[in-house]
Amino acid sequence: PVEQTLAVIKPDAYKEHKDDILSYIKEAGFSISQMKETVLTKEMAEGFYKDHRGKPFFDQLVQYMCQGPSMMIILSKENAVQEWRDMMGPTDLELAKQSNPSSLRAQFAKSILENAIHGSSNVEHAKKNINLIFENINLE
Ligand code: CMP
Repeated sequence: PVEQTLAVIKPDAYKEHKDDILSYIKEAGFSISQMKETVLTKEMAEGFYKDHRGKPFFDQLVQYMCQGPSMMIILSKENAVQEWRDMMGPTDLELAKQSNPSSLRAQFAKSILENAIHGSSNVEHAKKNINLIFENINLE
């Protein structure tokens, strides 16, 4: 099925590598349904990552995500959720370098925290987070 997923180019990667990352997205055949630059507030970042609340890296994660503008992108494609996750590579930079050196994280992440890119983990999360970020746009 054609799906939508939310891709986020995180602040450091947005500042340093946005053109490269956008080229990879287009080359991989994703359509960009919408995109916008957003500076997340602390409240938005906490909401976005609410499943990670209580983890030891939570405060650092929120700080990292609020340090400057991110690019929020709605990607659509057949099987977009999984394809985007495959293209990002694993969360952990070291693992990304070992298992998929051409993945975006292997190329652009700095650490497991500063891992450059986000992608929704499933279709339901994608819908929720697209709504959260793009505020009730029509998803069809
Ligand atoms: P993301 O895929 O956006 O989802 C949760 C984020 O938390 C993750 O990318 C990383 O930025 C961060 N993260 C996940 N695990 C760790 C960890 N063990 N240590 C530090 N940061 C992490």
